[in-house]
Amino acid sequence: MNIKKAEFVISNTQVDKCPQDGKPEYAFIGRSNVGKSSLINMLTAKKGLAMTSSTPGKTQLINHFLINDEWYLVDLPGYGYAQRGKKGREQIQQIIDHYLDEREELTCLFVLLDCRHEPQKIDLEFIDQLGESGIPFAIIFTKIDKISTSRLKENVTVYTQKLLENWEELPLVFYTSSEHKKGRDEVLNYIEEINESLKIKY
Ligand code: GTP
Ligand code: MG
Repeated sequence: MNIKKAEFVISNTQVDKCPQDGKPEYAFIGRSNVGKSSLINMLTAKKGLAMTSSTPGKTQLINHFLINDEWYLVDLPGYGYAQRGKKGREQIQQIIDHYLDEREELTCLFVLLDCRHEPQKIDLEFIDQLGESGIPFAIIFTKIDKISTSRLKENVTVYTQKLLENWEELPLVFYTSSEHKKGRDEVLNYIEEINESLKIKY
C-alpha cells in the first residue's frame, strides 16, 4: 500500500474524544519501549510523526494519525512500566482498558513483543485477555535488527509454544525492524486487505 498522506489528528485520554467519523483504525500496544511509536513512523515513512524516546514511558495518551484520509493508525501508551509507580501504572492501564473496551472502530490491534526477550507474564496475560474480550489482534515481533536470524527463530519458537498452551491457533505474526525498515510491506498489505474487505461489507 502506498501511504500518500499521514497526519496527526488528536491526542487524548478519553475514548469519547477520539475521532467520531467511523473510519477503521489499527492500534499498536505493548510494553513501554517495545517500539510502538517508532513502528508508526516507519510505516508512514515520517520520522517525527509519533514521539519516540529511548526512555520508556514516552507515549502517555491515545494518539490518532489519519492515513490517506481513510483510516487511522493509533499509538497507545505502553503497559507495565514499573518506574511510573503504582498510581501512574493504574492510570495508564485505565486509559488502555477503556479504549479496548469501548472503541468500536478498532479493527485490529497489533500486539508488539520485543523479539529479544523470553515470553513475559505481562504480555501473555494481556494476550489471553484479548481472547476473552474477542478483540481481533495480530502479533508483531519488533527490533529484529538486534538479534541474528537463528536467535530470532529460536525465540519465536519458544514464544509460539508458550502461546499454544492457551490458544488453539496462533494469530498472524509479523517481524519488523523500524531501524532497518523491515516488515513494512507485510503490515501495510495486511491493513489494506482488511480495509478492502470492510468496503465490500458496507
Ligand atoms: P512508549 O511510548 O514508552 O510506550 O515506548 P514505544 O513502545 O513507543 O517505543 P519507542 O518507539 O519510543 O522506541 C523505544 C526505543 O527503542 C527508542 O530508542 C527506539 O529508537 C528504539 N527502537 C524502536 N524500534 C526499534 C527497532 O526496530 N530497532 C532498534 N534497533 N531500535 C528500535
Ligand atoms: Mg510510544
